[in-house]
Amino acid sequence: MSEMKRDARHVIQVTLNGEKRSGFAQPRMLLSDFIRHELGATGTHVGCEHGVCGACTIQLDGRAIRSCLTLAVQADGCDLVTVEGLTQREAELSLLQRAMKRHHALQCGYCTPGILMSFDVLMRKNPKASDQDIIDVLAGHLCRCTGYANITSAMRDVLDQIKSNAGGDHV
Ligand code: FES
Ligand code: FES
Repeated sequence: MSEMKRDARHVIQVTLNGEKRSGFAQPRMLLSDFIRHELGATGTHVGCEHGVCGACTIQLDGRAIRSCLTLAVQADGCDLVTVEGLTQREAELSLLQRAMKRHHALQCGYCTPGILMSFDVLMRKNPKASDQDIIDVLAGHLCRCTGYANITSAMRDVLDQIKSNAGGDHV
């Protein structure tokens, strides 16, 4: 990337949920703000803005990351997936989203997009994840409503379904 001027707005190009998108960002603009305000993908929530709550979690080149701890310029040329991308793949709620609904795993829903993005990575990378693996992922997310038990149950349900489908389409 060429040298950036501090106050200039630079063109940032990304793939967002499978679609080529671009917008402008000053070098100090957070990726969370770029996604929400420049690209209009407001499904990604912003809570603490310093890496603690997990609400802003998205996927960048297949990894779950805090978009509030990433600058928009760092994402130039990257592949981003936000919570909107979970439904676009099937044009309906994903298996994970349906399980969250079935298990009453959300109330206000503020934490939910970030949790979904982290769990989506877990189910893809480790479909044999243990209960402890689920807890480890959930440890990176704050939820003020649910007490976490129902979220854990939803994820366990999904992983058990993947196991019983023996590698079928689980997204
Ligand atoms: Fe990014 Fe809280 S808003 S971790
Ligand atoms: Fe309200 Fe988690 S459902 S913060």
